[in-house]
Amino acid sequence: LNSLLHSFETSQFFQTLAKGFKVAVISRDNSRLEKLRGFVSPSIRDNLTTLVGNVGSEEEAEVVKHALLKSVGKVTDIVSSLGFSWWQGGPPHTQTLKELHWVIETLLFSTFVSWKVFFPLVRDDPNCTYTFITGGAGEKLLMPGTGFLTVGAASTLAFCQVLREEYPEVPCKLNQVKINTGVAIPERMAPGYLNHLDLGEAVATLVERKNTTHTVFPVNSPSDLKNVILEGNL
Ligand SMILES: NC(=O)c1ccc[n+]([C@@H]2O[C@H](COP(=O)([O-])OP(=O)(O)OC[C@H]3O[C@@H](n4cnc5c(N)ncnc54)[C@H](OP(=O)(O)O)[C@@H]3O)[C@@H](O)[C@H]2O)c1
Repeated sequence: LNSLLHSFETSQFFQTLAKGFKVAVISRDNSRLEKLRGFVSPSIRDNLTTLVGNVGSEEEAEVVKHALLKSVGKVTDIVSSLGFSWWQGGPPHTQTLKELHWVIETLLFSTFVSWKVFFPLVRDDPNCTYTFITGGAGEKLLMPGTGFLTVGAASTLAFCQVLREEYPEVPCKLNQVKINTGVAIPERMAPGYLNHLDLGEAVATLVERKNTTHTVFPVNSPSDLKNVILEGNL
């Protein structure tokens, strides 16, 4: 089984590897990929493929797709978790158009371009999955100064909705996990936050289960993750 992560999202990465998946991770930054390889125990390192590439560029995404296929063969599951964790640059009147471009480029354009390039690898197979990780920041202003985060996250939510409605019959399992709280490593946990490893386990379980499609899984709290892992629904 091959899983492709469009992100350095370590939680999903470790959990999918632990479940015995073969995982490929794409990043623009080779030093981050090297660091990631260093985290993985030698016994399972062969299950990891790392590729440097910018999946927000149509040309580069095609190049990295061909490199991926050459190195791993078939891809069965794709997790798209692109963007950035946090943005609090200030209220709109203090911002530049350049900043808004960057936000939209990172949260929307890369999500669109990578979907367009990689979705054909899984589109026609009911045993394949394509999962978007998105944020509830798109539905409201989280706090003063986070407006562009809301704009960017909302554009990703809208894009996922468009895909569900434009392709209602597509055989591939097309799902979205919408996280409405913070995600953190154990040392930085706050009340209500998700432990990144628990989130990874939930996402890996969804990918493995393959029994839902065109579904949004809202995750509001750690207990929602338990539901998705243990009971199979939210
Ligand atoms: N973290 C949270 O607390 C939280 C909470 C709720 C929802 N979310 C959602 O989770 C999703 C991912 O956020 P995150 O917290 O995991 O952010 P993150 O740690 O910054 O990861 C995002 C990844 O996207 C990659 N990326 C962005 N543009 C790319 C491109 N053009 N080509 C290749 N890789 C690209 C980055 O890789 P490189 O920079 O290495 O290339 C980075 O590793 C977002 O949709 C966010 O809304 C996060």
